Amino acid sequence: MKFHIETWGCQMNDHDSEKLSGMLVREGHEAVGSVAEADLVLLNTCSIREKAVHKVHSQLGRLRELKAQRPLLIGVAGCLAQQEQEALFKQAPHVDFVLGTMALQQLPRLLEEAKAGRRVMDTAEYPDNHLFPPEVTQRRSTAKALVTIMEGCDHACTYCVVPTTRGPERSRPVADILDEVKLMVEQGFREVELLGQNVNSYAGGCSFAELIERVSEVDGLEWIRFTTSHPMNFTRELGRTLATNPKVAPFLHLPIQSGSNSVLKRMLRGYTVEEYLERLGYLGEARERFAISTDFIVGFPGETDEDFEGTMAVLEQVRFDASFSFIYSPRPGTPALRLSDDIPAQVKAQRLARLQKRQTELTLASHEKAVGKILEVRVESLTVTEQGHWLARTGRWENVHLTVGAGRTLPFGSLVRARITGAGPHFLRGELA
Ligand code: 5AD
Ligand code: SF4
Repeated sequence: MKFHIETWGCQMNDHDSEKLSGMLVREGHEAVGSVAEADLVLLNTCSIREKAVHKVHSQLGRLRELKAQRPLLIGVAGCLAQQEQEALFKQAPHVDFVLGTMALQQLPRLLEEAKAGRRVMDTAEYPDNHLFPPEVTQRRSTAKALVTIMEGCDHACTYCVVPTTRGPERSRPVADILDEVKLMVEQGFREVELLGQNVNSYAGGCSFAELIERVSEVDGLEWIRFTTSHPMNFTRELGRTLATNPKVAPFLHLPIQSGSNSVLKRMLRGYTVEEYLERLGYLGEARERFAISTDFIVGFPGETDEDFEGTMAVLEQVRFDASFSFIYSPRPGTPALRLSDDIPAQVKAQRLARLQKRQTELTLASHEKAVGKILEVRVESLTVTEQGHWLARTGRWENVHLTVGAGRTLPFGSLVRARITGAGPHFLRGELA
């Protein structure tokens, strides 16, 4: 079959799509670039906020029209599949199969059944889901290889669907992870991103900090990234490793969510603002080198003006280099549903706009500090873009538009030295040094 996978959501979902794609290729199917060319469309969905769910449903609507005109198999995977399960068949009767987030390796079987005309679902929790064979994965990035180290989340943040959609924490054994990292380096990757819903609570035979040390010993590997971290599990040991291991890229995404202790308490985040700041301090002198990014939720139930000022204050205090901010979205089955969603939509929108405006200024100021420097950057594009530059990233995860001569190519994922010549809020400009 010709298949097309559409992916929403986080890096974990991106990587799941690489695994799904790999299984389909292994079974002899062919990846195509669009829905129009495909006879199997697989939607790998996200349900973190209402908006993400809307996008899936509108795509399902378009696929229904297409399926009325020609044969088409439609599968739904990912967090919405895990959350809705058979309800998805009711909402969208043209869906042929539903594949849960913890049953990835059941895809070939479900597809066979669906091809035989049976509508099927598997949303069970398979104990080996996180032990996916790395040689099967079809990697899409040419610059960094995504490597699962753990799956699931044992926290219980009151707004979040992830504990339901991704299940309890399961860690991959250290040896498996090291084997995959070595394989990636053999295949030409020089950078890995260690993935998990909560990488700091890694428990596959050593601590997360030790895992980083072990991974860094792989010859030929240049940069290690990881996502995503929970401040509650951010240890002094981890701070020390990040600060001292030369292969750790100087970028830390540590979601704070709010700058108000009473909101954090209602979110059940398990730390105060002061404790969050203390954990950032674990980076010691390396704090200056590191770009720090975070996530914020505004308009959480009961968030007063004063609470929101706390969020603005922490933004100012930390001077985050980047942040992702969202309006609170009530999610099915989450404890926060018991709190009344009492902040007027207009107030939420104003708070979000104010936060984002200030963040844009801070990001610009952070980018401007790079101007005039010569930095090592990893080239992400294989060829020159239409605008005449390569896309590249600094260790701090800043986008760089790198001006080069027309028609030049590079081996994928190369590190080059770039002279930074300009800065905007979304990217740096540079030239080969
Ligand atoms: N509403 C709004 N934002 C949410 N996030 C998670 N759940 C919700 C929700 N119900 C945000 C958090 C998290 C990021 C991935 O998405 O900020 O860190
Ligand atoms: Fe979306 Fe969260 Fe699922 Fe990632 S884990 S796809 S962000 S709901």
